[in-house]
Amino acid sequence: MTVEIRPQHADEADAAMRVICAAFGAEGTKVVDVWAAVVARGLDRAQLVAVGNDDLVVGHVGLSHGWLDARRALVDVLVLSPLGVAPDRQAAGIGTALLAAAVVEAERLGAPMVVLEGDPGYYSRRGWVPGAEHGIEAPSARVPGPAFQVVLLEGHEEWMTGRVVYREVWWEHDATGLRDPLLAQVEGVLTRRSRPAAPRWQGAPGR
Ligand SMILES: CC(C)(COP(=O)(O)OP(=O)(O)OC[C@H]1O[C@@H](n2cnc3c(N)ncnc32)[C@H](O)[C@@H]1OP(=O)(O)O)[C@@H](O)C(=O)NCCC(=O)NCCS
Repeated sequence: MTVEIRPQHADEADAAMRVICAAFGAEGTKVVDVWAAVVARGLDRAQLVAVGNDDLVVGHVGLSHGWLDARRALVDVLVLSPLGVAPDRQAAGIGTALLAAAVVEAERLGAPMVVLEGDPGYYSRRGWVPGAEHGIEAPSARVPGPAFQVVLLEGHEEWMTGRVVYREVWWEHDATGLRDPLLAQVEGVLTRRSRPAAPRWQGAPGR
């Protein structure tokens, strides 16, 4: 079956939410609640869906507004979250295609960068680098360093360094970074993996 990646239509919001919910398993309801609140506040900047030739939504990615608190100015940036693929359609390239399309869309929107929290094992093979490599700090110390990743776009300038600031809605839902005991577990996995012959990551890549 072929899959098309395109902007979400107005009548596909419920279907996209069902895919997000299923993709994130036990965390699904929480992820849906946060994303619904982001959209309700008008903070979403793009929603792309993966649609099969049977017109069913099988994947979704969202971009929303955040800031980079640089010394010179407060910079509008895009936060990529959530990214989800229907469980029975995972590991077939759909997530990779959604991710690439989201970056193209962010460029089209004129953002200087996109940031995300996620498994560096997944994103580093798809063009993402730790924010620290470019002086871009996570919004919380509870985001494990390698997990806070960035793609710089055409509009990026050298002075755009500093801390990323999430919109209030992420804090209201306590959806920034991780908390113990999961935080400690993820840090442990990332530390072990940075050693030679580290086992492959099998956990949930952030949110
Ligand atoms: C993570 C996710 C979006 C990837 O989409 P996908 O269509 O399954 O991924 P692709 O087919 O493009 O890529 C497959 C690769 O992702 C890896 N992968 C799939 N799920 C993964 C996960 N939960 N953690 C780490 N890697 C994962 C596969 O092992 C495979 O690795 P490879 O690049 O070495 O082959 C999808 O599996 C998903 O929705 N997972 C649950 C929700 C989630 O964790 N979202 C990301 C939040 S940061």
